[in-house]
Amino acid sequence: MQKTEDKREFVEGYYGKAAQQPREDLCCPTSYPTEDIGHIPQKVIDRFYGCGSPMSLAGIKEGEAVVDLGSGAGIDCFIAAKKTGSSGKVIGVDMTDDMLKVANESKSEVSSNLGYENVEFRKGFLEEIPIDNKSVDLITSNCVINLSPDKRKVFREMIRVLKDHGRIVISDIISSQKIPQSIRDNEQLLGECIAGALTEEQFLSYLEQVGFYGIEVLSKTYWKSIENIDFCSITVRAYKFEKTAGCVFIGQHALYHGPFKVIIDEEGHVFPRNQAIEVCTDTAQKLSEVPYKGMFTILEPDQTTNEVSCCSPSATNGNGSSCC
Ligand SMILES: C[S@@+](CC[C@H](N)C(=O)[O-])C[C@H]1O[C@@H](n2cnc3c(N)ncnc32)[C@H](O)[C@@H]1O
Repeated sequence: MQKTEDKREFVEGYYGKAAQQPREDLCCPTSYPTEDIGHIPQKVIDRFYGCGSPMSLAGIKEGEAVVDLGSGAGIDCFIAAKKTGSSGKVIGVDMTDDMLKVANESKSEVSSNLGYENVEFRKGFLEEIPIDNKSVDLITSNCVINLSPDKRKVFREMIRVLKDHGRIVISDIISSQKIPQSIRDNEQLLGECIAGALTEEQFLSYLEQVGFYGIEVLSKTYWKSIENIDFCSITVRAYKFEKTAGCVFIGQHALYHGPFKVIIDEEGHVFPRNQAIEVCTDTAQKLSEVPYKGMFTILEPDQTTNEVSCCSPSATNGNGSSCC
């Protein structure tokens, strides 16, 4: 099964059936706390085919715009609907009509339990996300990327729709080593989120290659082994940063506070603890925002290291408090 269309057709048929008739054995067991799912109809919970709990780890804030890719019967969207509140907006994207049907049928019960409606489901592919450019604060996905025939395209699409400083929190299955063709060609294992899994290294480096930064593995749990290959569920967070200031060196320096002796970012910048390293305008801006906010002091061109380390009243540690 080589062609993108063939794979999509198979996955759509597979999850169409899993929407009509719930299956308990489809992916690795995972669950959400009762307080997160109390407002969600049982038929959605029975069709939860995720491998992690991205909505518990995403730090969702009220009013955020959230997109869940491969939303299935809608469980993660409905959890996000509660966390974002009435001022937030949640969009689920899925290609399978039977899944969208269950999700849409459940919307009114969720909104009457919450007292507001802020969820929408759209039919579409992960590789061509039907969402405007730069319109989303958070993208989540739960056990879906492994099913995509073009994972790099999915990651590029995520970058396109995220706002600057937006984040992704994705749960998926990864393998301990590259998967042999015999497993790749096994349709049953494709449907079960095994045959299309990337290795952890591939997964993280694809994210870096399309431009994500601040990449962090938030959780990793062993699931099972097949032909001596271990399969785990991981949840990863990463950020988008748009270079708008221009890579210009105007004399700004970044001072890393610690606790590590030295750190390296995705672009290869090395920051030894407590040493002022010259940075360009883009990097200075990037280090001032999440997830690095508070870890660095950015020295402007007119400030010297001595001024900062010797109790300059203008020197702050990024949290707004004095350095000394
Ligand atoms: C393993 S299920 C997970 C569903 C949901 N995230 C959950 O946790 O219950 C995978 C879902 O992704 C959808 N899907 C798979 N590949 C897709 C693609 N390329 N584009 C859009 N949807 C896709 C399937 O239709 C299915 O609903």
